[in-house]
Amino acid sequence: MIQHPKNSSFWNSVLLGVLTVVCCYTLQQKIQAERKKRAIQKEYGQDVVEPPYVSSWIPFLGKAPEMGKDPLQFIRKYSQKLDTPVFTCLIAGKTCHFIGDSHFVGIIYDKAKHLEGQSLKIYFFEKIFGIPPEISSKSYANPEHLKDSQANYRRLLTKEMIEPTVQTAQDIILQMIQQEFSEDQWTEVALHEMVFRAIHKATYTAFVSDAMADPSMLPYFREFDKGIGKAIKGTPKFLLKDFVEGRNKLLEVLRGEEHKKTVKDFLRSKHESDAKNGITPEESHAGSLALSWASLGNTIPSIFWVIAYMLTDDSLRTAAQKDLERIQLPQGESTTFTLEELDQMAALDSAFHEVLRMGALAVSPRDIKEDIVLEVKSPTQKHRYLLPKGTRIMGNVPTLHMDPEIYANPYNFQWDRFLKDSNGDMPVFTKDGKRIDAWRPFGGGQQLCPGRKFAMYECKAYACLLLSMLEIRIKPGETVPTINPHNGGVGAIAPEHDVLVQVRRKK
Ligand code: HEM
Repeated sequence: MIQHPKNSSFWNSVLLGVLTVVCCYTLQQKIQAERKKRAIQKEYGQDVVEPPYVSSWIPFLGKAPEMGKDPLQFIRKYSQKLDTPVFTCLIAGKTCHFIGDSHFVGIIYDKAKHLEGQSLKIYFFEKIFGIPPEISSKSYANPEHLKDSQANYRRLLTKEMIEPTVQTAQDIILQMIQQEFSEDQWTEVALHEMVFRAIHKATYTAFVSDAMADPSMLPYFREFDKGIGKAIKGTPKFLLKDFVEGRNKLLEVLRGEEHKKTVKDFLRSKHESDAKNGITPEESHAGSLALSWASLGNTIPSIFWVIAYMLTDDSLRTAAQKDLERIQLPQGESTTFTLEELDQMAALDSAFHEVLRMGALAVSPRDIKEDIVLEVKSPTQKHRYLLPKGTRIMGNVPTLHMDPEIYANPYNFQWDRFLKDSNGDMPVFTKDGKRIDAWRPFGGGQQLCPGRKFAMYECKAYACLLLSMLEIRIKPGETVPTINPHNGGVGAIAPEHDVLVQVRRKK
């Protein structure tokens, strides 16, 4: 085609204009970056730089879609590619730092003073309930509210609270076992479904309310739990119809009279503190739902995995059975277990640790309130990284829990990895010859999970009740899932599919 000379000079000018804009923009970015670097070095020293940046062509979302698919793989890929223990990228409109070296995973606990400890909750409130961060951060900044919540959480760790709640949970489980299974015939059930039903009723009866523990609530809780991961990643709510319906139904029950009448001590204290500290009803109910989810969302999959591995690993089942035989149980009657008896269940204890090493791989965001200067020393690098105020650290346990230099064959489930020695001490883990705090499924610092003891006792109690009361066998032909650490998201990893088991009560 012959081009008109006038037309071609027009397009040349357009091209020149675009090129000039691009060059000016790039130059301006370079100048800004150089100025920023100089300002940082002036303030903090010549060796201080920002961590390597991983850019993305997707506006706003940045690397969120890639990270969301497989957080563990994402972190490994970029820290190895850039040979750095920390890298930065854009995630859903926020500048985020990821930690690729086990030695630095504890930074979100060690640098707690520089961080907004409530970030996860503020984030949760925004993504799950649509409550803007400006509102929820104001409530969390209220010192009285914070003091009351922490005092209430601390109670969860006391024997006075754990003993009756573990007992209540066991009474419920025992009753369900007696009602659902007979001595004369095998009953076929889906294992995850069975654990879900029992632990939902047991935990909510212990901590939340009878109204929320009612089995009619189970489908709503399940849909809510299933959708949380997607909602956190920012999936539009119109694509999460069942999640929204489940959430709204649970909130409706939490607002209702039946809940108020049957609310348990732990949640009642929260309601009272919210009312006293001027927390809006909307926020208060959202907080109650978040707390109720925290008590259950991680516990159900963790207990499922312990039972599933117990059914497939003969050595674990035999060791747990032996521990159980050492406990003097009353002859011929079904019984629940005391905390002291559960403390003797060493094999289950170790298996629970191993399940959480592989399966509790949530990412924990923390917003930075004050600049952090991080000293990085590795065989290949020595400098200091600035993590500036206003950005976010994505705390991540996978880096630590799946580090082959700490745990040999990290993808193999080894139930005895955490067995205590004859003095009752836990095994010591090291990296580069240095002792390392290598097991952190419950977080750390101020936000260390206050439900950790209850979760451990509930898991062991459930396993002990099953072992002592039931014969369970996997239905022939069924495949049993195993933990896939690359499925990490929000909370403990759920199984990819359920498994049918056959159950009969022992005579
Ligand atoms: C296997 C089971 C569980 C796991 C793996 C787990 C894990 C965690 C983690 C990692 C955090 C810290 C989150 C952060 O980074 O901010 C946390 C906080 C929390 N957990 Fe758990 N949790 C479990 C069971 C429970 C149970 C049974 C309860 C209640 C009875 C509970 C109540 C809480 C509460 C209230 C917080 C917030 C603490 C605070 O912000 O001060 N958790 N949990």
